[in-house]
Amino acid sequence: RPVRLAEYRPSDFLIDAVELDVMLDPTATRVTARLRLRPNPAGRDNAALTLDGDDLNLVSAAIDGDPLRVDDLDVSPSSLTIANPPRRPFELTVTTLVDPSANTKLMGLYRSNGAYCTQCEAEGFRRITYFLDRPDVLAVYTIRIEGSEAENPVLLSNGNLVETGAAGEGRHFAVWHDPHPKPSYLFALVAGDLGVVEDQFVTMGGRKVTLKVFVEHGKEDRAVHAMESIKASMRWDEEAFGREYDLDVFMVVAVSYFNMGAMENKGLNVFNDKYVLASPETATDGDYANIEAIIAHEYFHNWTGNRITCRDWFQLCLKEGLTVFRDQEFTADMRSRPVKRISDVRGLRSVQFAEDAGPLAHPVRPEVYAEINNFYTPTVYEKGAEVIRMLKTWIGGDAFRAGMDLYFDRHDGQACTIEQFIACFAEVSGRDFSQFLRWYSQAGTPEVRIATAYDAEARTFTLDAAQSTPATPGQHTKLPVVIPLALGLVGPDGRDMPLVVGGAPAGPVFALTDETTRIVFENVEQRPAPSLFRNFSAPVKVVSDIADDDLLFLAAHDSDPFNRWQAAQTVALRHLVASVAAVRSGREPADEPRLAEALSRAFDPAESDCAYAAQIAALPSEGDVARELGEDVDPDAIHAARGFLKSAMRRRLGPQLLAAYERLAETGPYSPDAASAGRRALKVAALDLLAAGGERDGIARAHALYSGARNMTDRVMALQVLSLHASPEREDALADFARVYGQDPLLLDKWFVIQASAPLPDTIDRVETLMASPGFDIRNPNRVRSLIGTFGAGNPTQFNRPDGRGYAFVAGVVAELNASNPQVAARLLGAFRTWRSLEPQRRGKAEAALRGLADMPRLSADVADIVRRALAA
Ligand code: ARG
Ligand code: ZN
Repeated sequence: RPVRLAEYRPSDFLIDAVELDVMLDPTATRVTARLRLRPNPAGRDNAALTLDGDDLNLVSAAIDGDPLRVDDLDVSPSSLTIANPPRRPFELTVTTLVDPSANTKLMGLYRSNGAYCTQCEAEGFRRITYFLDRPDVLAVYTIRIEGSEAENPVLLSNGNLVETGAAGEGRHFAVWHDPHPKPSYLFALVAGDLGVVEDQFVTMGGRKVTLKVFVEHGKEDRAVHAMESIKASMRWDEEAFGREYDLDVFMVVAVSYFNMGAMENKGLNVFNDKYVLASPETATDGDYANIEAIIAHEYFHNWTGNRITCRDWFQLCLKEGLTVFRDQEFTADMRSRPVKRISDVRGLRSVQFAEDAGPLAHPVRPEVYAEINNFYTPTVYEKGAEVIRMLKTWIGGDAFRAGMDLYFDRHDGQACTIEQFIACFAEVSGRDFSQFLRWYSQAGTPEVRIATAYDAEARTFTLDAAQSTPATPGQHTKLPVVIPLALGLVGPDGRDMPLVVGGAPAGPVFALTDETTRIVFENVEQRPAPSLFRNFSAPVKVVSDIADDDLLFLAAHDSDPFNRWQAAQTVALRHLVASVAAVRSGREPADEPRLAEALSRAFDPAESDCAYAAQIAALPSEGDVARELGEDVDPDAIHAARGFLKSAMRRRLGPQLLAAYERLAETGPYSPDAASAGRRALKVAALDLLAAGGERDGIARAHALYSGARNMTDRVMALQVLSLHASPEREDALADFARVYGQDPLLLDKWFVIQASAPLPDTIDRVETLMASPGFDIRNPNRVRSLIGTFGAGNPTQFNRPDGRGYAFVAGVVAELNASNPQVAARLLGAFRTWRSLEPQRRGKAEAALRGLADMPRLSADVADIVRRALAA
């Protein structure tokens, strides 16, 4: 049953062209597929033809027009086999019936608020018709859609529109043709009564592209930002990578029932409406930024994913890691580069490092899977992006761009492997990538231990680095990887010293390739503070002997903005780890005046980049502390220690916080631009500290900000601050928000998130009550993620209640969703990804909840896979 990379074989048959005829009907949509097949020269002789299916009803099948009888076929809902097909090119016609209204899995053809839409990645096309549903079978698609004109005035598919017309009895049709051969996972169809926003983009080669964003009627004004983001993405890909769009039309459709964020179907991207819709009245700064980034991500897939796709699903990071890297660079160029880097690293550590350290750890390119949907993970996406970034850091920007150009040139139109991608960079750089490739095959976060020594007499500074990667499930021994270490030696004057090694200028990037590496810097006149892994040059955990004093110096003086932030974070994290120990032994945590001084820099009016300052002001998260501890984790002690530190910061910085809070008050009309968003983020960071410990004055201010808010960002952030502490103001604001915004599903989601993440003992009761409220809909993944997903993965103290109720609750929802939407059910189990690191009592309760699920009858492949791996010793 598990699929293994080592067992890859080319398909025995290829499909050159597909004609689909789709007769839409809410419960009985008839799909006729005409497939132009031929034996694959690279396949086996005399092989049977087995097409994939999933939940399909066969109506009829014919070869070259001759109907096949049932005994010519071996057919089931999940496959169709023809034992002895022609050994020459032939046409197979297959008609199937599907029920889009009953499709609650939201894979294949389903209905979202009445509109028809599809999701085919990874294996959803087989829920529409029998097919060779694998990414290395590339075909040219022509799609005829027919449906009720009144219900579905809009009929969309991939490529260019070639024909439309009436079909009688109130029905009409449209024919779409996509000239670019593509794998089935990039197919899409949308039909419904939708509003549209239109614009145009002229490519660098002069092609006029019509841009359309489809949304529910009445929400057109909320599609403007998405449209602007499309144009910015198209421009950027031309400038940064020389990539031009390749069809006459590019469409985005927003749907409200969607399992993931968005999907890069050729020419017809389908989006979770959460990542399209924005207006000043309804969206926060975070929403604007997410929309811009996800529109870019899906658009960039047109080259990294669509024109060049994956040979098989093990190569998923070939398109995802690379495309995440590209969207990160886009955002860095559109906004603040250091802020983007810091927030990406925060995200990487909180989810990917956690995944890598737990039972679900897997390599960036997995070697075996039971259910591919479970491998759309932070490891494949975010660590995959870090691997691309390291590659660039290691060979340099020019070689990187040359390698990308070669990749696009050589592999356009192909389904590729990581080896083929890497070969392009080996070729342009002349380097040997065999060791670098271990980043794709070894799971686990490497740890780098750094010891340093200054010899005043010899004027040398010696750095000893030792790397190791912990064992992960199924991988007990690890080999050294290529770790690019970007560093600087910062002198007492705050300036970088020249780096001299072996009598010659060196660095600033050093490759750590062995288990241990010693670098001796020469001509070092004074003892420097070493600034290590600048800009987070490798996705590793660093353990260094650098003293807090040096880190605090770097926090003030490092020329690398990422490391100024990192230095203060490291000091804070060390402090929090010590505080947790104090809390657990009933002692009062120590005060940290020097940390307060470092954080106070964030609120200095001289700091002009407010978004950056807000990052400085934000303490390490409870998850960061848990990961640092690694074992015997008590989430309540972490919460207490962090709360103690926040209150200490409030006491020390009170007047400065207040001054900053007032200085940053909103004045003009709302604008979501990065600088304005940064001011709001810093303002709320000040407010969060002012309200630390439930301090009355801070709570009153948060309530005033809520009531007087002139935009959704202030309103939601104020509510978030209020939600952390029980108070009448909290209840008043929560009730008000529901009254005013409760009818808008995306705003209801924000209200769910805020309540589900509250670190209060009655949170679980509220979440249960909200689940039963009319606004909640278990069939809608956004509602489920906002309420239950947040409670599970975003509320360390309440999910991990010592009584085990949090675990039992989330497991219960997983059980409920297991059959109706296994993908979303499996995602919720991400909450358990670090269960083994908990202290024994909670660990036992978490395990019991997982075992209960494991014993459930008729477990879906998705849920069974996660539960089994989570429990495997
Ligand atoms: N390719 C999409 C993206 O990252 C994600 C689709 C994931 N779909 C799934 N069923 N797992 O842009
Ligand atoms: Zn993607």
